[in-house]
Amino acid sequence: MGEQVASCEAGQQAVFDGLKHHFGAQRLGTELTMFENIRKAHPDSHVTCADPSKSDLIGYAKAGHAKMTQDTGELFDVTRVYVAPVPRREGSGSLRDHTRFARWKMIWKGSEYIIYEVKWTEFMSPFRVYYVLSPRKPGDAETSKATDELLFTVGAWTTELHKEIYVFDDAHWSKDKELFASVQGASWDEVILNPQMKANLIEDVQGFFDNKNLYKSLAVPWKRGLILHGVPGNGKTISLKALINALSARADPVPSLYVKSFDACQGPKYSIRSIFSHARVMAPCLLIFEDLDSLVTDKTRSYFLNEVDGLESNDGILMIGSTNHLNSLDPAISKRPSRFDRKYHFKIPNEEERVAYCHFWRKKLVESHLVDFPEELCVVIAELSEGFSFAYMKELFVIALLTIARGGGLEEEEVQAEDAKSSTDSDPVIIEHELAPAENTATRDAQKTDLPEKDAPEPKKKRTLPEVDVPEHLQDNRLLKVVKAQLKMLLEEMDNSDADEAPVKKPADEENDMCGDYAQQLRILARQNARANE
Ligand SMILES: Nc1ncnc2c1ncn2[C@@H]1O[C@H](COP(=O)(O)OP(=O)(O)O)[C@@H](O)[C@H]1O
Ligand SMILES: [Mg+2]
Repeated sequence: MGEQVASCEAGQQAVFDGLKHHFGAQRLGTELTMFENIRKAHPDSHVTCADPSKSDLIGYAKAGHAKMTQDTGELFDVTRVYVAPVPRREGSGSLRDHTRFARWKMIWKGSEYIIYEVKWTEFMSPFRVYYVLSPRKPGDAETSKATDELLFTVGAWTTELHKEIYVFDDAHWSKDKELFASVQGASWDEVILNPQMKANLIEDVQGFFDNKNLYKSLAVPWKRGLILHGVPGNGKTISLKALINALSARADPVPSLYVKSFDACQGPKYSIRSIFSHARVMAPCLLIFEDLDSLVTDKTRSYFLNEVDGLESNDGILMIGSTNHLNSLDPAISKRPSRFDRKYHFKIPNEEERVAYCHFWRKKLVESHLVDFPEELCVVIAELSEGFSFAYMKELFVIALLTIARGGGLEEEEVQAEDAKSSTDSDPVIIEHELAPAENTATRDAQKTDLPEKDAPEPKKKRTLPEVDVPEHLQDNRLLKVVKAQLKMLLEEMDNSDADEAPVKKPADEENDMCGDYAQQLRILARQNARANE
């Protein structure tokens, strides 16, 4: 009996040793192995392991707050890589180190630190760690006050944005300098919108961040959500850029956090949790969800709503979601104030707005001597481009100016040929007022359902240029001739791209579709009743 117990104990020892060996294997414990090696090699130092994403020591030093020099000698492992300039032809690029093992000397506030920077891959994931060393005297406490002070200061600096925007993609937040630079030029002056709506949107956003105390005094949570919606190409993204820019230029700059996707191998719950946890740390902040309808789906809805409505405070977070398709946005989002409280509709520009947009281009071109752009042309081009979105109008100007720059538009025959071609199109003039050229099929579907049912859908009428009176003295204007030719081509392109769109739903499909809106379901029921009574 005694022997059995003894052999059991030996077995347990062996199993335990095996387990220790298994978990102690270098492949599984690189971080710990490094830790122990560094401790052994530097018995007179405190060794503290730090996460570069939380304490960006090199970034902090590069920003001029500390001095950091890499130890020269043979003992480092880096790949020197050529980084091409962006764009390719501007500048000459640079050489950068991709470090796997390096040692640095850092001087901060008169104290000296040694930093080991180590990078490796484990379980297909990259790991990067700093080991921070500071002098240790016999009898010192386990942790180093000097290292703690450094990591605390660098940690606070790392959390803040430095001419960057936080971007969430691939399941993590990163800081994007390029995106920040790209919004710097975005100004509200260049965004043409209904003046009242523009003023309301600006006030809504700035007012939110100005009025923390008002929210508190009213005992309502200091959080808000806005939706920017409308067919593509009418200013949602440039308005977001103008907002980000204006918020970063405030006396108390407000950081912007931009969410690209909820995709994560750990699942959307992980992503959504990470997004909101970080937004709570960064608050007050602007949290942007572009293309909200593709982010909030059946799979992600409950996690998203948990974070928006949950017990944790979202104080100081202003959420803005944008969508091209308000109808396809989950009603839990689009139809429930207190999540997203206000909606701003970015419509196809009316004539006044198109005139304003032509003036915007005229102002750009006045100095260029490339074209003769008299003021009256603005009204003519605006009348001709009825139904165009801003993005299509932009394309119109860009392509017209490129044509002129290449010497096009001079040949009388070119224009005559275009005119002859269009005069053979005998279709009536169709101008679709509220529909974007590359517009929303959902809107059209809804209109279709109001029409009596037919076996085959009516063939779509081609869009043609509206008849516009052009004053005598503008008839020969080269810009106008080129613009007219390009307008016709763009209209044709719009007709062709419409033809490629998904076919309009047949009534039979609609009857199975219980996700449609309430009005549509009523129409379906009415039709079913009518048929039952036949
Ligand atoms: N309201 C507007 N005022 C001025 N330019 C506009 C406007 N809307 C769109 N544009 C032009 O069209 C381009 C595309 O617009 P964008 O804001 O990306 O559209 P959306 O996000 O609504 O699809 C912009 O970069 C800008 O040049
Ligand atoms: Mg957009």
